[in-house]
Amino acid sequence: MPLKQALRIQELTPEELAVYRTLDPARMPEHVAIIMDGNGRWAGKRALKRFLGHQRGADSVQFVVETASRINLPYLTLYAFSLENNLRRPKAEVTFLMKLLRNYLTGNVKRMNDNNVRMAYIGRTHELPPEVQEIMQWAQEETARNTGTTLTLALNYGSRAEIVDAVRGIVLDLVAEAIRRGCSVDDLLGAGALHQVDEATLSRHMYTGAMPDPDLLIRTSGEMRISNYLLWQIAYAELFMTDRLWPDFRGLHLLEGIAAFQQRSRRFGGLDTEFTDESLPEPLMPALVP
Ligand code: FPP
Repeated sequence: MPLKQALRIQELTPEELAVYRTLDPARMPEHVAIIMDGNGRWAGKRALKRFLGHQRGADSVQFVVETASRINLPYLTLYAFSLENNLRRPKAEVTFLMKLLRNYLTGNVKRMNDNNVRMAYIGRTHELPPEVQEIMQWAQEETARNTGTTLTLALNYGSRAEIVDAVRGIVLDLVAEAIRRGCSVDDLLGAGALHQVDEATLSRHMYTGAMPDPDLLIRTSGEMRISNYLLWQIAYAELFMTDRLWPDFRGLHLLEGIAAFQQRSRRFGGLDTEFTDESLPEPLMPALVP
């Protein structure tokens, strides 16, 4: 890895390299998730049509993916199209986004391969138009042998829907197990099957089952929302919200987000320092405020 990493680092821009050199290689995130927001506002500010914001947003995707691959980021997961976008945006915009996705995939598979990027998807992708699914599958197959960054596009994705799908998966597994053993689901429950369902079971049944949870969640455009994105997986992620609109976001800003992430102290509900309870006083009664 050091040789390969050194070679790719040379491909960073001078500005990216300056930020990269401030990073601690031992504390790089394994998984960065991004809510790409602000395409419409970017276009509006320039009196352009919304679709041009999306078009520029697709260019940002490729810039950011390539920087991620140059620093050997293992996982990058981008919120490209939500279930809510699908249901609530005008049909013409949804159609445009679908065409943009097809063009993006057909136009960038070679670059993905040049950058050793493997493509994956999460979401209810089976509900997308068949011609989009076909190109998605093609891009996934064409990049399946790559071993660098896994780029996951969240498409027709909603986190609550994902949790519902995971629970359905667990129930179906239980039914399949009953059939396999020739007993009833009641018998399995009586034998303690319910207690075997734990957080790890749910994590495994998420669309992201094969990935580590994101360490860092970035959202562009200044909004302070999670918007139904990876709710289960970001339990302990660090959040980095930037005012920058997605079409203006580049690899440099990904690296700045990682630099901010490295300033955080991640405790996962624990403590930073060694602490013993020997010297703990009795807790005081809460003071009543008059
Ligand atoms: C938010 O902008 C962005 C989206 C609807 C999804 C992201 C889509 C892209 C970046 C385009 C292409 C992506 C790929 C992978 C080809 P918005 O319309 O909500 O912006 P606004 O809040 O300013 O209106």
